[in-house]
Amino acid sequence: MNTQQRILVIGANGQIGSELVEALAAQHGAQNVIAADISPNNLYNAARYTTLNVLDKAALAALVASEEITQVYQLAAMLSATGEAAPLKAWTLNMDGLLNILEVARERNAVGKPLRIFWPSSIAAFGPSTPAQDTPQTTVMDPTTIYGISKLAGERLCEYYFIKYGVDVRSIRYPGIISFKSPPGGGTTDYAIAIFHSALRGERYVSFLGPQTTLPMIYMPDAIRATIELMDAPAELIKVRSAYNVAGVSFNPEQLAAAISRKLPDFKIAYQPDSRQAIADTWPQSLDDAAATADWGWQARIGIDEMVADMLANVDVSLGKAA
Ligand code: SER
Repeated sequence: MNTQQRILVIGANGQIGSELVEALAAQHGAQNVIAADISPNNLYNAARYTTLNVLDKAALAALVASEEITQVYQLAAMLSATGEAAPLKAWTLNMDGLLNILEVARERNAVGKPLRIFWPSSIAAFGPSTPAQDTPQTTVMDPTTIYGISKLAGERLCEYYFIKYGVDVRSIRYPGIISFKSPPGGGTTDYAIAIFHSALRGERYVSFLGPQTTLPMIYMPDAIRATIELMDAPAELIKVRSAYNVAGVSFNPEQLAAAISRKLPDFKIAYQPDSRQAIADTWPQSLDDAAATADWGWQARIGIDEMVADMLANVDVSLGKAA
């Protein structure tokens, strides 16, 4: 894009936000990226940081107007496992947060100041009746968690605001995202982060998912690249206004443990599935992302061995006790 973008990242202290802020600042200049979070702690030393509750629509609208924002990444949400502990809170945060930003975008469109919006969907939007292998872009979606239900409803809202109001909103159905800058954050896929914390402490990891639970995953650098490539693509290439399937690498706990053992031969894993197993059992094992490839050129780059090597080199074991 040629014109200077002014970017707001909401939920900036979360797993994706903390890395996206850095990538966007490198691309657009730190002065053009505002990191916003409900927490007053500027955890990642973002150049421009503000406290914002995404549920406060007036404050959100005022910030967008005063900073002449052109792009918003709305990442504030509760994940699948934490959502099950507080379903109504998760629904309110996940739905009203999205609706507030879609409404701000509709209002800005009406005065000739369009916003481009990114909002994350998830593999959690699928459910037990969804074909689990090479899950198609368009298929049965019957999510069973409040988080997944909010993602499916959110996808429908995104498409609705695009069709009805011309809001330029874009989304990805993220696989489980593996990363090292933040501690595991209440997701069903987060075993694949916690396992590295145990491995590097020299501890046995007790997995809350069983050995054969294959899930779609993606390493953070690929996830960030997918997000920015989607947001930088010309609007006419974006044919899906709900959310794109994006595949990274699929594996199960046994395969991940084996990849870690190739680097750390003493590493041991045990299995004690808990309530998160039932969630994982309703999610796909692999995704067909041909639509993302065809429309905006998506290609994953990072496989399991490269990811494991990079995680083992970078995980900071002092970052919160692994879940
Ligand atoms: N990683 C998320 C979770 O496990 C899925 O989007 O909740």
